[in-house]
Amino acid sequence: MSSFFVLQKQYEDLARDEIIAISKSYDPKSNIKSEPRLVMVSSKVPWQKIASRATFARYSGTIENTFDDITKIDLSIPTPKSFVCRTINLSSKNTGSSALERQAGGILSKRWGSKVSLSNPHVIVYLIITDSKKYLGYADCQISPSHPKKIIKHPHELDTKLARCIVNLSGLKEKDTLCDPFCGTGTILLEAESMGINGIGMDFDKTMCKITRKNLAANGFDSQVINSGYEKIQDIMGTIDGIVTDLPYGISSRSSVSPKKLIQDFVSVIPKRKKLVIVYKKGLEVDDISKAKKYEIYRHKSLTRVIAVR
Ligand SMILES: C[S@@+](CC[C@H](N)C(=O)[O-])C[C@H]1O[C@@H](n2cnc3c(N)ncnc32)[C@H](O)[C@@H]1O
Repeated sequence: MSSFFVLQKQYEDLARDEIIAISKSYDPKSNIKSEPRLVMVSSKVPWQKIASRATFARYSGTIENTFDDITKIDLSIPTPKSFVCRTINLSSKNTGSSALERQAGGILSKRWGSKVSLSNPHVIVYLIITDSKKYLGYADCQISPSHPKKIIKHPHELDTKLARCIVNLSGLKEKDTLCDPFCGTGTILLEAESMGINGIGMDFDKTMCKITRKNLAANGFDSQVINSGYEKIQDIMGTIDGIVTDLPYGISSRSSVSPKKLIQDFVSVIPKRKKLVIVYKKGLEVDDISKAKKYEIYRHKSLTRVIAVR
């Protein structure tokens, strides 16, 4: 059985790799095909599981088959009480989406004897049009990730969507342990624990540690927070499955080390066999991550973030 994920337009590469990383973490044998803004996954993982984690998937469900002639479409599912047809046009042409939906709706309604419900359908039938194929898919619900509460914010925090995405890129799953040695307000730890991943955060700033603890407590989470410099990570390396972190963008008042030197020193203490996902300000690239897969996220004219996955 194949699942489909229609990606949002922005950050398409990131969105695609996020789905791939989640799928492979649960089933390394997942077979993945993709087209522009569409990823199809054949694996043991139910699509709902991937959709509940993936940040940048807009629509998801099961792919049934492809079709050429709309009058011959067929779905091998139990007759739904009600349904709706939705066209997702990912092709470069205008496909007459609403006419296609009406036609498909008429055919299925006749075959099933079910009513069409626009507002609360039991099944959504997706007609996904790409430049190479027309896919027929369906879903009996729409699933999107739910983000934990953040009661204390900070101007330098990572946004929750990006934080979730980088946790997903790490390939960590339930019961694994993630370490964020520059945890700030705890955004990464919050997203990780909301997905069942154990967290250990560190920050050399006592106030930041307090904020993180409050943010975790507001969700009933119990990730550990250590008030210390990142160097402490070496003492607990054996208990960690992966490191996901967002490094300082400028020189902190508490440290005289330049942000680039800090990245260099930090990356050099992380063993190559540990999964590492870091976010840093563009321009602070260091040799140890030169071969990492990178994504750029433009924020404003003086800040473009780079995500590096090693
Ligand atoms: C970019 S902020 C992290 C923001 C965080 N991702 C969030 O969403 O709130 C970097 C954090 O690293 C901490 N920091 C800076 N140098 C550090 C060091 N040497 N060891 C540990 N923490 C450090 C700072 O106090 C700051 O909270």
